[in-house]
Amino acid sequence: MDVQIQPDPKFARIDTLFILLAEKDRPLDRIPLPDDLRGEIRGAIERSGFEGRMDEGITILATRGPKKIALIGLGKESQLTVRVAKAAAHGIGKISRRNRSTSIAVAFPYTLPDNDPLTTTRLFTDFLIHADYRYEAHLTVRDLEPALDIKCVYIPPSSVSSKDAKRIATEATAIAEGVRTVRDLGNGPGNEVTPTRLAERAVEVARQTGLTCKVFDKKQIEKMKMGGLLAVNRGSAQEPRFVILEHAPRKAKRTVCIVGKGITFDSGGISIKPSERMEEMKFDMCGAAAVIGTMQTVGRLELPVHVIGIFAATENLPSGTAYKPGDIVKTMSGKTVEIVNTDAEGRMILSDALHYASTLRPDHIIDFATLTGACVVALGNEASGLFSNDSDLARKLIESGEKVGERLWRMPEWEEYKEQIRSEWADVKNSGGRWAGAVTAAVFLGEFVDCPSWAHIDIAGTAWTESETARERRGATGIGVRLMVRFLESLA
Ligand code: BES
Ligand code: MN
Ligand code: ZN
Repeated sequence: MDVQIQPDPKFARIDTLFILLAEKDRPLDRIPLPDDLRGEIRGAIERSGFEGRMDEGITILATRGPKKIALIGLGKESQLTVRVAKAAAHGIGKISRRNRSTSIAVAFPYTLPDNDPLTTTRLFTDFLIHADYRYEAHLTVRDLEPALDIKCVYIPPSSVSSKDAKRIATEATAIAEGVRTVRDLGNGPGNEVTPTRLAERAVEVARQTGLTCKVFDKKQIEKMKMGGLLAVNRGSAQEPRFVILEHAPRKAKRTVCIVGKGITFDSGGISIKPSERMEEMKFDMCGAAAVIGTMQTVGRLELPVHVIGIFAATENLPSGTAYKPGDIVKTMSGKTVEIVNTDAEGRMILSDALHYASTLRPDHIIDFATLTGACVVALGNEASGLFSNDSDLARKLIESGEKVGERLWRMPEWEEYKEQIRSEWADVKNSGGRWAGAVTAAVFLGEFVDCPSWAHIDIAGTAWTESETARERRGATGIGVRLMVRFLESLA
């Protein structure tokens, strides 16, 4: 929805005013409201017996100001997290759509943990922009749930000046735009979001936000000897792409490379996956999408950090020319890999992308990949797996994630795990077997990284949801953008 930040909206034009309240808390004084409206809300709370429990919601007709007042419970204030706020925003989107409210206002009289009033306002605004997100590019019959244009006013705390409000609104829009790019690309079907299309989208984003973008086609990828990417691509009729997006402001002190896995469909290849839920493997490019979306926001916000976004893209399909178990592949780094499972393709394309990133000598390399089912087994959908050779970087990323509700959980990458990917026939093999699958995948990637400050983020469990959750609709979550923007801001 379209969200404005405005301390004194014209309430007479508002259909529903949403007031978010923690349990047994009545912080109405903190919401800048006309006195008569505040009195109206107080009365409504009393008459309705509203307590503010989690998921409690009451809508009442107002006698003045907006047509309706909706009270939404947030649960205990001590348990008020960013994720609770995101769920509240999602709930507001659903209620508005159900009630066909096209003009709403929202007051959230709290400061989120690890945030201040400004970042709370920015984050909540961004969540609200996404609260009615849907991917409907391919729906031709929409009678059941027609689309609705919702205009929303977010009422900030009085400590936010009108100048701040303007800036915050611009920033929230830029962040939400990047997140939307990730969600749209992720939700897009594999026959549309091909490696070529992914690269085209990167070019579009670069043009719109003043980034530079280089796209390498198959011939150029061959010239660069990216054997990992080419091996995975051999089963596909679609050409691979290798893409570099760059934001290079003059005053930047640090350089960060963000690398993404862009498998636009992962069938497993010759080591084919079971057909059940294979359709979800269109999301296997969400790491690359996170790179594109982050670069879009970074370009729009003109963050004073040198950021290079890199992704490798291909399909992973079986065919008469596909790479096979037993094959030995020479990667761009010169290291050879024995293929034991063609379904461990993400690490093959990342071996080249991470090696390439290392040659640029950045201060930090951070990669995003829907890399392993094992990571989903370990952490489910509540956190992404974090692997890093730099504890300082790991801590900063974890903190940035906490601030925006994109949790990271650190996993080990100890030397001993290398034993599992030792090969008799090549320098390494591409699968370490069943145990510690997320870790051995990370350790494999580490073989191709030459950078003292690298982090690998396994988003296999967090990049999309199988069904609607409290926080978002089914499909791509847009993970990565909010996390990276906060992290990059902390470096600036
Ligand atoms: N894209 C998958 C990982 C994945 C699986 C993400 C399920 C989300 C949900 C990846 O390419 C893959 O297939 N990994 C294998 C590795 C194994 C063959 C070593 C896996 O996790 O099973
Ligand atoms: Mn796979
Ligand atoms: Zn994959």
